[in-house]
Amino acid sequence: MAEIILAKTAGFCFGVERAVEKVYEEAEKGGVIHTYGPIIHNEEVVRDLHDRGVRVIENEEEIDQIKEGTIIIRSHGVSRQIDEKIRGTGLNCVDATCPFVKRIHRIVENKSAEGYHIVIVGNPDHPEVQGIMGWSSTPVTVLRSKEEAADFVRHMKEQGSLASAQKDLPDAPGTKYCVVAQTTFNANKFEEIVAILNETSYNNICCMNTICNATHERQKEAESIARRADLMIVIGGRSSSNSAKLYEICKRECGHTYFIQTWRDLNLSPTGYEQIIGITAGASTPKKIIEEVLNHVRADF
Ligand code: F3S
Repeated sequence: MAEIILAKTAGFCFGVERAVEKVYEEAEKGGVIHTYGPIIHNEEVVRDLHDRGVRVIENEEEIDQIKEGTIIIRSHGVSRQIDEKIRGTGLNCVDATCPFVKRIHRIVENKSAEGYHIVIVGNPDHPEVQGIMGWSSTPVTVLRSKEEAADFVRHMKEQGSLASAQKDLPDAPGTKYCVVAQTTFNANKFEEIVAILNETSYNNICCMNTICNATHERQKEAESIARRADLMIVIGGRSSSNSAKLYEICKRECGHTYFIQTWRDLNLSPTGYEQIIGITAGASTPKKIIEEVLNHVRADF
């Protein structure tokens, strides 16, 4: 019999678990429940919640049409404008923003109030980043690559030297920059980008590494299990980028790595030589799906 190792960090992180629990709690109470955006990127969970009467609000305009019930803000958080709009409805509002994301909102709000130009290292299309941007009252720049950081530094230098001649330009020497990161951004890439930003010696840069450890811990554990495993299984949604990343990491360490959504995708034929089988799962994979896979793997090997 093969040894099966299930990663301790497989599945929901603290913030997602908390948000999903809040939605189920509200659904239990009855009434009309809305979440601003899908609570997690997992089709099964969203379908199950739909069956319990939970509806997804797709955009800001839809908030105006809601006349009753509860609105839940998901773990990604929202901008100040949307936050105020939801609270302004007078309906029951449940804020399930992850406390680690909320902390970034507070940093951005406070630092921009002190006049800092906000730099977010992350993906500008991600709802978390869009939410963070919306807490700044000063200009915001989003950088997602070293190339974009290098362009930005060039821009800072140009503005700086121009501003020496024309004192009224916004990015004059001495402009203060506050750098934060999207919680799920890659830590190495973040450091590389920060190193590029720090090349501008005349500007005041305040860097806050706001990357959440949950992703890194999950990746580190997956990598170490995959290194030992003869066969590795990564469970995650088709469109989940963090699951795809987990797969990529595991595949590097273990050639026999399989990416599945549920146990139904398991199509393994044991060779009899597998001694260690590793299992991990992306951040949006519910416990139930992980357990089902575990049970099937146990039965097969
Ligand atoms: Fe929160 Fe970290 Fe998860 S920021 S939502 S605990 S990945």
